[in-house]
Amino acid sequence: MKRILSLILVLSMALGLCACGSSEPVDYKTELTDQTLTYTLDELNSMSGDRSLLISDYGVPALYKYFEGKVNIGVAFGANQISLLDAKDVDLTAETDNAEANITKSILKHYNMFVLGNELKSDHCNPAPDTYNFDDGDRLVAAGKAAGAELRGHTIVWHSQVPQWWFKADPNDQSSLQDCYNNGTLATREQLTERLETYITELMTHFKDNIKIWDVCNEVLNDSGIRQVKDDSYWAEIIGDVDGNGYADDYVEIAFNKAREVGGEDLVLMINDFNLEWQDSKVNAMYDMVERMLRKGVRIDGVGFQSHISVDCNVEKYRSCIEKIASLSEIYDECFPEYKGNFRVQITELDMNMFVGANSNGTFYVWSEEEFAQQADKYYELIDMFLDFVDEGKIDAIVFWGTDDENSWLNTTPHLRRNAAMLVDRDLTIKPAFWAVARAALEHWK
Ligand code: GLA
Repeated sequence: MKRILSLILVLSMALGLCACGSSEPVDYKTELTDQTLTYTLDELNSMSGDRSLLISDYGVPALYKYFEGKVNIGVAFGANQISLLDAKDVDLTAETDNAEANITKSILKHYNMFVLGNELKSDHCNPAPDTYNFDDGDRLVAAGKAAGAELRGHTIVWHSQVPQWWFKADPNDQSSLQDCYNNGTLATREQLTERLETYITELMTHFKDNIKIWDVCNEVLNDSGIRQVKDDSYWAEIIGDVDGNGYADDYVEIAFNKAREVGGEDLVLMINDFNLEWQDSKVNAMYDMVERMLRKGVRIDGVGFQSHISVDCNVEKYRSCIEKIASLSEIYDECFPEYKGNFRVQITELDMNMFVGANSNGTFYVWSEEEFAQQADKYYELIDMFLDFVDEGKIDAIVFWGTDDENSWLNTTPHLRRNAAMLVDRDLTIKPAFWAVARAALEHWK
């Protein structure tokens, strides 16, 4: 029965396209949303009680519109979640029960900033010497054009999801990095620098005209300083303290300088990390490192707060951490007066773990509407706080790390459990958190 139903779906989607017939580019932002919606509190209140509405429904307001002109609202997804855009026989503007299509529609409709969760990482893009795989990145670019969305490139330098061969003296060596470290067969500083610079040159040359914002470095800090081998990172160990200033963060400088040189002055080059939302030692380490770089002439245009938070997140603490990092703009303006006002904070990977405290099981947990309401309140409080910084020109993007509760890494990390981190339920119905985010904007700016 299920198979027959999906066949009918595929056929009806195909027929949808035949009805369209032409190869004119589709304006998804217009086609997927009822243009008579007014985006008022009354309208929102009348819809938000309905738990049967689907995120892809035509009559549901587009989320980004509540924030339009003030801050971009983004989403991270897998390349597979936009692959239907390539399917010439699928009309994404047609109504459908097909979940895959409805997720793609929700991406195109609700967000004006897109990020690939994994497929622009360096292990994916440069799996072997002289091998570059930019196809999924090209799909992101096409999706951005189809939906008029800005793009974030995530991410170039990381200790994880990075090609292991970069770090080995012999790129064909099959041993683990730990063994190479123990045996003295890690790459030399010169090898690693050359591989990194070559990769950045290829990547930036390919994407610089279409992807304007980059997380050049991700998670280079441990709790209080530069990540080391004990933190699973070989970057500082191999490249080390080139300029002898006492800090082994020179690989960060090399990456930013190369990206700027190849990518050009108009790119927004950022550094991204987690736990900046609450951990003072890490916030201070980030502040000190970015200040050091700026004073050396390395133009870092902003800091990304990943924002993998929990439902018990302390929003006022979080506010004070953003304040501290955003105050780097004074140093930025002093060091780069011609780019004055260009330093920003972005919320780059927002999601909300629902398992807090002792309650860490939950493989089959079913969340109650009461728990969803608590989550909505926390999202409201958080977005309202972000918007204070938006008003001051300090935050210009808020990106959600996933399209819905099913498509979230928090279902499998730190172990298998049924989390509910996002704005959209696993069955693609709209959760109270979605309306809370929209309401926060309406009430903040009323
Ligand atoms: C980190 C990374 C992301 C992603 C998430 C988990 O935050 O920056 O790229 O891998 O973990 O999904």
